[in-house]
Amino acid sequence: MSKAVVTSLLNMKGGVGKTTVAVNLAAYLARDHGKRVLLVDLDPQTNASLSLMPEKAWSAWAAEHGTMADIFEVGGEGKRGKHDDPHKFKDCIVHNVVPEIPGLDLIPSHLKLTFLDLDLAARPGRERILGRKLDKVLGDYDVILCDCPPNLQTATQNALYASDYFLVPMQPDYLSSVGLGLLLDRLDYLKSELEFKIKCLGVVFTRVRRHVAFHQETMERLPEEKAFKKLHFFTTVIPENIAISEAPMSAKPIALYDGSASGAEAFRDLATEIVGRL
Ligand SMILES: Nc1ncnc2c1ncn2[C@@H]1O[C@H](COP(=O)(O)OP(=O)(O)OP(=O)(O)O)[C@@H](O)[C@H]1O
Ligand SMILES: [Mg+2]
Repeated sequence: MSKAVVTSLLNMKGGVGKTTVAVNLAAYLARDHGKRVLLVDLDPQTNASLSLMPEKAWSAWAAEHGTMADIFEVGGEGKRGKHDDPHKFKDCIVHNVVPEIPGLDLIPSHLKLTFLDLDLAARPGRERILGRKLDKVLGDYDVILCDCPPNLQTATQNALYASDYFLVPMQPDYLSSVGLGLLLDRLDYLKSELEFKIKCLGVVFTRVRRHVAFHQETMERLPEEKAFKKLHFFTTVIPENIAISEAPMSAKPIALYDGSASGAEAFRDLATEIVGRL
C-alpha cells in the first residue's frame, strides 16, 4: 500500500493564512481529487479544528476521545500512556469530520498544547513523538497536512520531523519577505541539528489584494531574488476574500460555504497544482 506524503504548513509570521490554506487544501484534495486526507492540528489556538467542527462537537470529542494534547501527553490530566497503543492513538482521529466530504479526517488540537514546550523540555526525543505515531497511519492516507503554530518550537519541530515537505503560505509584503529569509535560515539550522529530511514544496501567496501595487511588486520580485531562486512559487495565489474568513463560522470549508467565491476557486486551483507537484 502506498504511503502518505506528509506536508507541514509553515511560517513564523502569524495570521498569514497557514490554517486557512491547510483546511481548504485538505478539503479540496479530498473532495475533488479523491485523496484520503488527514489534517493534524498542532496549534493550541485550535483554529483548524474549529474551522471543521462546531465548538460543541469539538469539546465532546476532546473529552471522549482525546486530542493532540493527549497524544503528546501534556496538560497534566493523568492520561499518560493511554495513546501509546496505536489503536488508542487512532481513537483521537475524527473520521469524515465534514460529512459532505468523505475521506477528510482530523486530529483536533487543544488549548493544553500551550504547555507542550514546558512539559516536554526534559523528554528525550521530544521532537520525534508525532512522527513515530503517524508512522502507524501512513498507509491509511494519501496526504497528511500538519497545521503548525507561528513558531519553530516543539510542536512545529514534531511536524518537521514527521514531514516529507513544508509549504509556506505568505502574504506578499515587505516584512513577510524578510520573514521568508529568516524562516529558511532557521530551517536549514534545524535540518542539520535534528537531521530532518524535509524539502520545500513551495511558497503560496495568500491574502493577495489585486489592486495593491506592492503586493504585485513583491510577487514579481521574490522569485527573482538570489536567496529564493531555487524555491518553487505556486502560480495560484489566494486572494483576500471575505467568504474565506466567514466560512469557519459555519464549521465548513469554503468549498461548502460558498463554492463560487473567488477564494473557493483559488483553493480549488491550488489543490490541482499541488496534486501535480506531489
Ligand atoms: N485569503 C483570505 N481572505 C480573507 N481572510 C483570510 C484569508 N486567509 C486568512 N484569512 C483570515 O485571516 C485570519 C488569519 O488567518 P489564519 O488563521 O489562516 O492564519 P494563520 O497563519 O494560521 O495564523 P496563526 O499564525 O495565528 O496560526 C483568520 O481570521 C482568517 O479567517
Ligand atoms: Mg493558524
